[in-house]
Amino acid sequence: MRILLFGKIGQLGWELNRSLFTLGDLSVLDYPEVDFNQPQTLPEIIRSAKPDVIVNAVAYTNVDKAESEPDVARRINADAVAGMAREAKNLGALLIHFSTDYVFDGTKGSTYVETDSPNPLNVYGKTKLAGEDAAALAEKFLTFRTSWVYSSRTGGFVNKVIEWSKTKTELRIVDDQIGSPTWCRTLAEVTGQVIAQYALDKDRLQSLSGLYHLAGAGAASRYEWVKEILSVLGMENYSILPAKTIEFPSAAVRPYFSALACDKLEQSFNLKLLPWQTSLALALEK
Ligand SMILES: NC(=O)c1ccc[n+]([C@@H]2O[C@H](COP(=O)([O-])OP(=O)(O)OC[C@H]3O[C@@H](n4cnc5c(N)ncnc54)[C@H](OP(=O)(O)O)[C@@H]3O)[C@@H](O)[C@H]2O)c1
Repeated sequence: MRILLFGKIGQLGWELNRSLFTLGDLSVLDYPEVDFNQPQTLPEIIRSAKPDVIVNAVAYTNVDKAESEPDVARRINADAVAGMAREAKNLGALLIHFSTDYVFDGTKGSTYVETDSPNPLNVYGKTKLAGEDAAALAEKFLTFRTSWVYSSRTGGFVNKVIEWSKTKTELRIVDDQIGSPTWCRTLAEVTGQVIAQYALDKDRLQSLSGLYHLAGAGAASRYEWVKEILSVLGMENYSILPAKTIEFPSAAVRPYFSALACDKLEQSFNLKLLPWQTSLALALEK
């Protein structure tokens, strides 16, 4: 099976590059071979690779910067995905794409399921929602909507907390934003499992085409998440103070509550997602 992975440098792409190679003939493209800001270049690249499965780990993910670069964010998060999906349909390939909890406005008050209506509050969320519609242009597609992605390597919130804890004597962390912390390795492993299932039974997987929530099980505030990170690192006595989002003005408005329920994914693919605390402990294990 030929797998074409877009992105190997970002949090998720890095993990996918390490977990998908056992599944078949893996080609990986990133800068400079591919630039999603020029979406018109993608179809030809895909046609010449003739993949059975396309996995897209590229995205414009700078939520605040997207407010001042809506056109770039839309080209990368939606237009490029549309071209990819059309080409996947032409080739009969499966497209696996990733979206975000930021498609929701956070007012539901309980974990979001796939049938809840999106209502993004910021440009990033709007462009990712357009990307979900774009991915659905492929005949066979799986869009995994995820939340609060972190890596044990570099980048992302967990590494920021570790850096802050080395340079500051005290942290003030918001306790009014709630989400589902998700280790990018979980995303990569589930993607691998699903591709393996696809290789065994393409018709069954085609019938499962659609949108799925995929995140660490459970929910936490940013404050609880940081407490847990420091506890895993043996820094329980480090001083963390709860704060409110309003105290940290930012360009983009974020949903206050965006935890995701993942029952549909677990049942459809016969998988079990770990509680977010368990994944975090594994991620930070040296
Ligand atoms: N991070 C989160 O908390 C989070 C939460 C929910 C959903 N998601 C979704 O999960 C997926 C993976 O996110 P992630 O955390 O792995 O993001 P990431 O670390 O920012 O990775 C995205 C990658 O895409 C690359 N990229 C950006 N513009 C590009 C372009 N024009 N051409 C080619 N590559 C380009 C980035 O490169 P540069 O860095 O050089 O620009 C980066 O390597 C995305 O679909 C994201 O929307 C993420």
